[in-house]
Amino acid sequence: MESISIGLLGLGTVGSGVVKIIENHQDKLCHQIGCPVKVKKALVLDLEKQRELELDPEILTLNPEEVLLDPEIDIIVEVMGGIEETKEYLIQALEQKKHIVTANKDLMALHGPELLDVASKNQCDLFYEASVAGGIPILRSLVDGLASDRITKMMGIVNGTTNFILTKMSKEGRTFDDVLAEAQRLGYAEADPEADVGGLDAARKMAILSTLGFSMNVDLADVKVKGITEVSGEDLHYGEQFGYTMKLIGVAHREGEKVEVSVQPTLLESKHPLASVNDEYNAVYVYGEAVGETMFYGPGAGSLPTATAIVSDLVGIMKNMRLGVNGKSAILPEFPKKLKEDHEIFSKYFLRLRVKDEVGVLAKITSIFSNYGVSFEKILQNPLEENGFSEIVIVTHGESLYNHEKVLQELNDYQFVQSIESSYRVEGGNVHEMARSVVSV
Ligand code: NAP
Ligand code: HSE
Repeated sequence: MESISIGLLGLGTVGSGVVKIIENHQDKLCHQIGCPVKVKKALVLDLEKQRELELDPEILTLNPEEVLLDPEIDIIVEVMGGIEETKEYLIQALEQKKHIVTANKDLMALHGPELLDVASKNQCDLFYEASVAGGIPILRSLVDGLASDRITKMMGIVNGTTNFILTKMSKEGRTFDDVLAEAQRLGYAEADPEADVGGLDAARKMAILSTLGFSMNVDLADVKVKGITEVSGEDLHYGEQFGYTMKLIGVAHREGEKVEVSVQPTLLESKHPLASVNDEYNAVYVYGEAVGETMFYGPGAGSLPTATAIVSDLVGIMKNMRLGVNGKSAILPEFPKKLKEDHEIFSKYFLRLRVKDEVGVLAKITSIFSNYGVSFEKILQNPLEENGFSEIVIVTHGESLYNHEKVLQELNDYQFVQSIESSYRVEGGNVHEMARSVVSV
């Protein structure tokens, strides 16, 4: 091969990083693959837009066919985002026998199996390392590094924007809106940041991680999702008082043949390794039956970290091109999907209630919990400034999700509970053994 030509779909935060790394690391790339790599065309929306890169204007185009159908382009890097239109572009490219690298978790979480199937039928590679946890090579670690093991649990901080927001809110006392605006300026947030703060972006990544880690097709719809928009300064404050740190955590847990996958704001024991992952950094904790505990840490968003993962995928494809083995590395899921039911999902919970401060109220609340076999690990009562009301903060021992929801329903119906201000999963300690004996369905 004399040279390899790349076509970009998108030239924004991540696309610009890809161009910079290809330019700045040209010698290293050439050494690894044996020929130069060049960017031939880049699809954008606006030709007049001010760009920080100095580019030959001929590279930019508004016409997708100039990228997708150019016979000289060997590999397409998709960094434009979007779902349906983007999927059509990628299918068109694969049918033209072009290999694909994408950072698009929205697309891979929804249509990954179908696109991988089209890629394999066309003897093409489709790599998507950058779609989960930015610069951390977590997908390759699951598929190759831990190929010999059986993974039973993954816990991840997989959204940089929400981790940045929660860190700045708790450490600097800043407001949600103020920090979100900064995350947008720094290029961490999605075009629609609702996907970040609502937990959907992390849910997409957890669906991809679970599919690869557990070798079963876990769909986005299988992930229980709650975002951080309702997390308040009071929750962070009480959490800290109890020795916890608030993080948006994705949990994927396999027991036997069944899995649970969720994303939710979670109070972590402050000594938990994920509790010290701050700002836009991501980390994925992986437990394998043979290897035990491992943790992968690094920048989860941003131009150059994400582009690093993309260019490493490009190197993988180019090495496969040299060996003539493209389209042969994807392995189909081994197991049928089986999801746990709510009475099989266990956790400790934090609850903050606003109640009437009257004789017998605490005893009644305790009885609601004990009717479902749930006991308290910690409890605190604070009188509120508003006369006659107080706030009760509870951390339960382990309980099933089914029982937790029943308790919430009964607390809601109890006339002396004015409001359930918050309820969060708590991670730390041995939840399972404790809770098994108190399941009631
Ligand atoms: P971005 O800064 O908004 O850039 C998007 C680029 O695509 C722009 O160049 C835009 O053109 C072009 N574009 C968008 N829609 C288009 C369309 N319909 N037709 C033609 N061109 C179109 O986005 P980004 O932050 O680089 O993210 C790109 C992808 O990477 C997304 O899938 C995102 O989820 C993923 N990702 C991002 C990060 C991150 O840290 N930002 C990390 C991991 C993964 P103009 O330049 O003319 O506007
Ligand atoms: N918006 C995403 C985040 C970008 O904040 O993590 C990286 O996927």
